[in-house]
Amino acid sequence: MRISQSSKTKNIVIGITGGIAAYKSCYLIRYFKKAEHNVKVVITGNGLRFITETTLRTLSGEQVYSDTFADSNEWSTEHISLTDWADLFIVAPATANIIGKLANGIADDALSTALLAYNKTLIICPAMNDKMYGNPAVQRNIKTLKKQGVVFFEPGTGYLACGYSARGRMAEPEDIYKESLYYLNGTASLKGVKAVVSAGRTVELIDPVRYISNFSSGKTGFRIAEEAAFRGAETVLVTGPTEETCGSRIKRKDVVSADDMYKAIIKEASDADIIIMSAAVADYSPSPSKTKLKKSDKVFSLELKKTGDILKELGRKKRKGQILVGFALETDNAEKNALKKLKEKNLDVIVLNETGKDNPAFGSDTNRIKIITSEKSEALPVLEKSAIAAVILDRIEKIRDNCSK
Ligand code: CTP
Repeated sequence: MRISQSSKTKNIVIGITGGIAAYKSCYLIRYFKKAEHNVKVVITGNGLRFITETTLRTLSGEQVYSDTFADSNEWSTEHISLTDWADLFIVAPATANIIGKLANGIADDALSTALLAYNKTLIICPAMNDKMYGNPAVQRNIKTLKKQGVVFFEPGTGYLACGYSARGRMAEPEDIYKESLYYLNGTASLKGVKAVVSAGRTVELIDPVRYISNFSSGKTGFRIAEEAAFRGAETVLVTGPTEETCGSRIKRKDVVSADDMYKAIIKEASDADIIIMSAAVADYSPSPSKTKLKKSDKVFSLELKKTGDILKELGRKKRKGQILVGFALETDNAEKNALKKLKEKNLDVIVLNETGKDNPAFGSDTNRIKIITSEKSEALPVLEKSAIAAVILDRIEKIRDNCSK
């Protein structure tokens, strides 16, 4: 799960404190390791009551730091060498205790000492009981640290270890990972730009229990939205039903039908600088029956009405300087059909998906595409969808640069 082509291997220190969410940090380590980043773990004594050093050493492939004065430490000033090494420090889960210590300059174990010696980007992911989180002392400490530039990934609402549902649950590891990438490698090349991206499939109801849809997974659209947000764009993602998740930097709007998507996109598009329609929108939709249709012995036929063509409408309304990107999924006469769509829909770029046996595209993490403009057609090799997203945004940035010259 590599977000950007341009991301390089970085060094991350993950601090773990004594909360049940400590087990989730194992997944966080795996996300970073899978993306070829280096991870070292510092854990408190209470953290070690929840997960073992062996687990963390195996996942990170590195020695785990838990004792400031351990004989096994490589250097006598481990907390300094560790913090010098780190490009990013994440404390997940962070208890009220570690937040309080850091806000008040207390260093009495390996983690709090390392934190005091660290002066680069620090991300804290609180996890605690909702009453503790709401305690004025905890909130005061959080405020103090925010003022110092510490980044907080706020806890979510969900089932807490105390046996009920409330706010205080640590952010999900995948979200922490994705959001962290912005602090690691994020650029500001699209700062001040609004990007609207559509993703996934639409679902057209036939009756309350049946629908018409397609196989689009939403992966490409999600990777594009992540890449846009990663480059600093204010990113709105309008998506049909999907399993995909995205970081909180992206404003996600869930829709179901082609008609819902039409309304949501048109609303967001008026002040957008970049619009990328990667959704597989249904071209036809039935008028759904309010009650379940019963079978009979007769031939069943369903009347389908044409849905509104969102991209065509966007092309018609396109403002000067606005960049409009469409997708084309073709099985035959691919390039000719894609070029026709580019012209008819007034697009700047069309991304051609040639799906077939050798390029399944749907559901896969990779794809082979062509990026077509009125001037040229560029065939890319099979790439991860995250890398495809980066290339598409590189091309969009180039067009924007040329427009502003
Ligand atoms: N699209 C849209 N609104 C629709 C249908 C499609 O905005 N009602 C967009 C898709 O998001 C995609 C582009 O149009 O960016 C092309 O979709 P595609 O299905 O390949 O082509 P269509 O224009 O629908 O034409 P056809 O199905 O005949 O190839």
